[in-house]
Amino acid sequence: MENYLINPNHRIAVINKDLYGHFSEHLGRCIYEGLFVGRNSDIPNVNGMRSDVVNALKDMGIPVLRWPGGCFADEYHWKDGVGPLAARKKMINTHWGGGVEDNSFGTHEFQELIAQLGCDCYIAGNVGSGTVQEMSEWVEYMTFPGQSPMSELRRQNGREAPWRVKYFGVGNENWGCGGNMDPAFYANTFKRYATYVRQYDPQNNWIYKVACGPNGEDYRWTEELMRIAGWHMNGLALHYYTVTHDWSHKGSATEFSEAEYYTTLRKAYHIDRIINRHLEIMNRYDPDHHVDLIVDEWGTWYDVEPGTNPGYLYQQNTMRDAVVAGLTLNIFNKHADSIRMANIAQTVNVLQSVALTDGPELVLTPTYYVFKMYKTHQQNTLLGSHITAPQIGSADDKLPQLIESASVNEAGEICATVTNTAADKAAEIRCQVAATAVAQVTAEILTGAIDDYNSFGQKQTVETKPFDDFRLTDDGFVATLPACSVVKFNITPSRG
Ligand code: AHR
Repeated sequence: MENYLINPNHRIAVINKDLYGHFSEHLGRCIYEGLFVGRNSDIPNVNGMRSDVVNALKDMGIPVLRWPGGCFADEYHWKDGVGPLAARKKMINTHWGGGVEDNSFGTHEFQELIAQLGCDCYIAGNVGSGTVQEMSEWVEYMTFPGQSPMSELRRQNGREAPWRVKYFGVGNENWGCGGNMDPAFYANTFKRYATYVRQYDPQNNWIYKVACGPNGEDYRWTEELMRIAGWHMNGLALHYYTVTHDWSHKGSATEFSEAEYYTTLRKAYHIDRIINRHLEIMNRYDPDHHVDLIVDEWGTWYDVEPGTNPGYLYQQNTMRDAVVAGLTLNIFNKHADSIRMANIAQTVNVLQSVALTDGPELVLTPTYYVFKMYKTHQQNTLLGSHITAPQIGSADDKLPQLIESASVNEAGEICATVTNTAADKAAEIRCQVAATAVAQVTAEILTGAIDDYNSFGQKQTVETKPFDDFRLTDDGFVATLPACSVVKFNITPSRG
């Protein structure tokens, strides 16, 4: 029996809802087909946004969406995507599959999507191939309330009021596809570009500036960025993908052995160590914590589904991905005092998506259900908590069998989420809520075989279900968590 302790008196930090953020790029079928079908489509839509996907994302509690890339962001010229549709430039999406990008989804369309989703907006600007002026004018176009050349252009294009831009990313992966810069060069470039990301309406729309952060374990990048440009940024954005083998052979999304399952989970769990090491460096340069860590790309990355365009990064999504999502979100929650936002890659039809589409059909993935279950944590306060657990896995790939986080809302209700990472071993846990009598517990579960997934033929193989394999005790509960599961407990303390 493993012991799970939750201390409701140890309140650590608010879990920013933006830790549950998403990312959408002009890549494969993410924007076109996935989110946007155009007003003339037979697929039900509102102003071109497909209604089934928008409704699913709203139900899941999407808090913030990043756009337009990714590597695409550093090739994107925003003026090509505004104004009359017929006059918009067509370009080649050189980075992703070489298809024609007709720019029919641009700034106005993205802001329409944000409005329909009721979420916040995170724009990634072009540093790699764009100018300071171009970036500066985009910010003016979107956010300036008064009279200026760009706000007038916005009005001519049909939008009177400025939009709220909560986050603005100054470039993307500038160590790679965003210009192959070295850290000192980018740090100085960042300062220059970020200067002209003006706060046009700071009372109503203060823009949070995000610098391109490190690739995984590139600690030198963090060191140099913090040393040279730390005072100019609000957030530093880490990218970390879980790749089972290596970039030339990533492995199949659906056909894998138990050993590969554990390799994937061990690599996903490694993000905790990476985060801690980057935070150690950031804290040295910024002991008062002015700069947050952001993780604006994360998730699993496998070989594309057989027969699909290798440049489109379309992959299926199994219970293995649900466990990756469950354990990663628990890790992010635990860092609520220093991570402000995270964005899984990518929302629809690309990498670890929450939704897959095929024409008018929609499939919600196991990862979707994890996000939906965990939305209770958004804006809750993280609590001190700890679970005992054996190390599990194969000889080379071990990680804790149980990974958890717990939070509390203003009414005092506790949300505890636990992943059982074992492929084939249930876990008995005894949960105690310190110095608290517990009145009621309800629970939900997502579980299945490690390679179970939802297909267009069988959409409901993996779904959240009510969970009742537990019994109440005076100060908590005793539960048996099935193998390969993600479980959420809602714990109501007794009043008085
Ligand atoms: O998410 C796919 C790609 O991964 C993004 O475009 C890029 O930023 C990263 O390398």
